[in-house]
Amino acid sequence: MDATATTPAPTSPPASGRTLPWRLEDIPLADIDLSRIRGREDMLFMLAAASFIEFASDTYAGNLAEFFHDEPDIADWLAHSWEAEEVQHGRALKAYVLAVWPEFDWDATYATFFVEYSKLCGAEGYESTQGLELAARCVVETGTSTAYKAIRDLADEPVLRKLAEHIRNDEVRHYKHFLKFFDRYDARERNSRFRVLQSLKNRLVESRHSDFEIGLWHAYHSRYPDDARGGKRFAAMQSGIARSVRAHYPAGQAIRMLMKPLRLPAPLMSLIQPMLLPLGLVIRQVLLR
Ligand SMILES: [Fe+2]
Ligand SMILES: [Fe+2]
Repeated sequence: MDATATTPAPTSPPASGRTLPWRLEDIPLADIDLSRIRGREDMLFMLAAASFIEFASDTYAGNLAEFFHDEPDIADWLAHSWEAEEVQHGRALKAYVLAVWPEFDWDATYATFFVEYSKLCGAEGYESTQGLELAARCVVETGTSTAYKAIRDLADEPVLRKLAEHIRNDEVRHYKHFLKFFDRYDARERNSRFRVLQSLKNRLVESRHSDFEIGLWHAYHSRYPDDARGGKRFAAMQSGIARSVRAHYPAGQAIRMLMKPLRLPAPLMSLIQPMLLPLGLVIRQVLLR
């Protein structure tokens, strides 16, 4: 099957007319210190996987905007700001990957990734109410913002650190938007804390690690076409990446962000504070396994 024929990979900036918080031109690709990154094949696979997932955002962003059609400002933000920023993350990561590893066939690899990944993107994965879906979105943005913080801190190459910092700032802002929108719906839907917790847990357990595995596999497979997905070499590469991200993962921050949609009273929060770090470490395991 010729996957490239059907792959909707964006090739030019979205014509939304919105000003992005930063632009690809702000990333000084010519200043990359190749001696600090070129030999790190694990970084190639990790950054390529991240770029694929970010690029594919436009596949489900439209669906999500439709899901919130009754609130035009939310639908508008999703369609014109959030989506444009996520796609810019993909575009910038792609540019970085190609500046360091020009022999990597990004377009062809993205096409094979997209064939598998696009089957996962659809409205059937949404939570039962709009408010609960917004709570679940907070989980996704917690995952991305903390992962890019870890990438920034583990990166040894200054341009990559700068890029990861830009992306992290965007993801934190996305989280804040989703949390604010969640409050609006939650005031109407009056979801119990238990239901919100269920939605947080569902998205935490079900979702994003599998996206990343798909991205990693296609990046890896393009380099090692004879290796098996269930084989030891691919597993070892995955564990190596998980280990290095884990070493820099802001577990405490992740748990604080994840708990916000529960809107627990301040006295209760201080009571359970000592339990939060161990819980954050468990979440780190789930997100990075
Ligand atoms: Fe992103
Ligand atoms: Fe985001």
